[in-house]
Amino acid sequence: MKKLSRRNLIKTAGLMSAGCMVGFIAKPEIRNETDVEMPWQYYPVEPVKSAQIAYDNYPGKGCMYAVCYSILSQLGQKYGAPYNQFPLDMLSYGHGGVSGYGALCGALNGGALTIGLFCHERKVRDAMICNLYQWHDLNELPIFVPENSKFPEEIPVVASNSVICHVSVSKWCQTAMVGPDDPLRVERCRRLSSDVVIKVIELLDDYIQNEIKPFQLTAAEAKCMGCHGVEEAKTLKSNASMGCSSCHPNPHNNIKISP
Ligand code: HEC
Ligand code: HEC
Repeated sequence: MKKLSRRNLIKTAGLMSAGCMVGFIAKPEIRNETDVEMPWQYYPVEPVKSAQIAYDNYPGKGCMYAVCYSILSQLGQKYGAPYNQFPLDMLSYGHGGVSGYGALCGALNGGALTIGLFCHERKVRDAMICNLYQWHDLNELPIFVPENSKFPEEIPVVASNSVICHVSVSKWCQTAMVGPDDPLRVERCRRLSSDVVIKVIELLDDYIQNEIKPFQLTAAEAKCMGCHGVEEAKTLKSNASMGCSSCHPNPHNNIKISP
């Protein structure tokens, strides 16, 4: 049986309606196989150089674009297709926590996308992405110092404990005592995109050496999930792996729970 990719179906449907309009049905071009084998093969790139490329390409396109552009453009220049086929420009949608909605951090969204291109084993991929996100939540960022910044080498840092753009930006702004529209906040997200690139490269290097560590909840979250985990819970269940405290600072203040 011939398999139709979704894309071919859409193309065919388009041709057919165009064909109807002029009174005949054009013969659709149907391919059985996708052009590109997935997942793509990852080849190592240099971390600090890549971080600088992300920093340089952030303006105008934002965090998600900068992260993906850094790694994929280098592979594209060195190895051509498929790396140079990715429509990188579309990734600017991820800025500001998905188009300014303040939801998922675009740098982390881009990091997950990059990992997803190179690893399709669900368990391993999920561990890589959760490790990336947990690393982001627990570490004081940004760390990267660019070559060409007009800001001081050291700028305020914060462990945001959240992958949510609005939360992460707000926590950093409270520490830095500036608003989210301040150029220093933009610099922070720009450097953070570089940090994410370095971490993604570290994870991809571990991946090709078969050294991905399983994802582990922090001790605090493990405690919560001991009672609220989807398998464990007899009571209210939670599907979260992220830090609970940013949204539930004192969940049991007024409930008595036996230890
Ligand atoms: C010893 C078991 C236990 C542990 C540990 C535990 N919980 Fe609970 N949690 C419960 C039970 C039981 C309830 C339901 C209480 C009820 O029926 O109202 C509950 C309720 C909740 C609720 C809903 C209550 C509300 O106020 O709306 C949240 C949110 C919650 N827990 C979050 C957490 C978080 C976050 C942690 C870790 C910091 C945690 N829990 C640790 C047993 C536990
Ligand atoms: C980004 C914010 C956020 C994070 C992080 C988060 N939660 Fe929640 N959680 C919520 C919201 C919002 C609700 C819905 C609360 C409500 O409707 O009362 C909720 C509901 C719950 C409930 C109640 C579910 C029910 O059926 O009523 C539990 C239990 C819970 N969370 C546990 C956790 C645990 C454990 C973690 C960490 C592993 C966690 N949450 C992380 C935002 C969050």
